[in-house]
Amino acid sequence: MEIAIITGASSGLGREFLFQANKWVNVDEIWVISRNEKSLEELKLITNIPLRIIPLDLTKEKSISKINELLEKESPDVKLLINNAGYAKFGDFDKIDLEDDLGMIDLNVKALVLLTRYVSKYMSSGAKILEVASRAAFQPIPYMATYQATKAFVKGYTESLYAELKPRGIRIMALCPSWVNTKFISRADTKQNDKVRYYGKIYEADVIVKRAYRDLYRRSKIVSTYGFNVKFVNFIMKFVTTKFVIGYYLRSQKKK
Ligand SMILES: NC(=O)c1ccc[n+]([C@@H]2O[C@H](COP(=O)([O-])OP(=O)(O)OC[C@H]3O[C@@H](n4cnc5c(N)ncnc54)[C@H](OP(=O)(O)O)[C@@H]3O)[C@@H](O)[C@H]2O)c1
Repeated sequence: MEIAIITGASSGLGREFLFQANKWVNVDEIWVISRNEKSLEELKLITNIPLRIIPLDLTKEKSISKINELLEKESPDVKLLINNAGYAKFGDFDKIDLEDDLGMIDLNVKALVLLTRYVSKYMSSGAKILEVASRAAFQPIPYMATYQATKAFVKGYTESLYAELKPRGIRIMALCPSWVNTKFISRADTKQNDKVRYYGKIYEADVIVKRAYRDLYRRSKIVSTYGFNVKFVNFIMKFVTTKFVIGYYLRSQKKK
């Protein structure tokens, strides 16, 4: 059985990855994973590809074990893995709820590493892995410190694995979007946050996902970004100091 796996499929970018999947993958089943079972069931309305609904909290190690057991039992040929589930929390680093703070590491980093490791065993030449990082991976972001660090990890991890997976014919790419219009920002806001308030341009999920699939299947990019301003800022940052970048970011937050 040929399958694709999408984590965090119940909303935002993950839902859009599923919606656009039939243009890019020809599989027997897509395994969709996130916590909310009802939202996962509703995904059956937006695709004609058969879905395997897998409601799991990926911050829990036993959830990862369950996926591993399922892989061992079914021994599928995995054509595509999209490690998309993730969240942020905005605010002072020592005031963010500790469970939320560490949960970002568990989900954005640990679950992504474990799934990449386990799922890639069931991949053959031609398979693809898309690791959802963020534009945050490129620069320090005060008041989003843990989130920023998790996404810098994802970008670096992906770039290194690119070389390791290439001889096996497996293509891995990090997606680094700027702000996207999903539930992400409202979920990231906290009562104590008065620091992360200015978002600038917010993109729609459909354009980000369209570009991501194109970069994954048609181009040989290791890192995919979208939007002139993102590309311009990433370019400029190569020539300025870290302190300049931090100062520029903090000044931009005062615009609101
Ligand atoms: N939106 C942005 O501005 C932006 C920018 C850059 C990068 N990103 C990245 O894009 C990815 C998708 O985010 P989004 O913008 O689409 O936000 P979203 O609408 O909040 O979607 C997040 C997804 O992750 C799932 N999820 C959250 N916690 C989970 C857990 N513990 N176990 C399993 N699934 C979990 C959610 O489903 P349940 O709640 O049902 O579990 C949901 O499906 C994230 O990795 C995020 O860091 C977003």
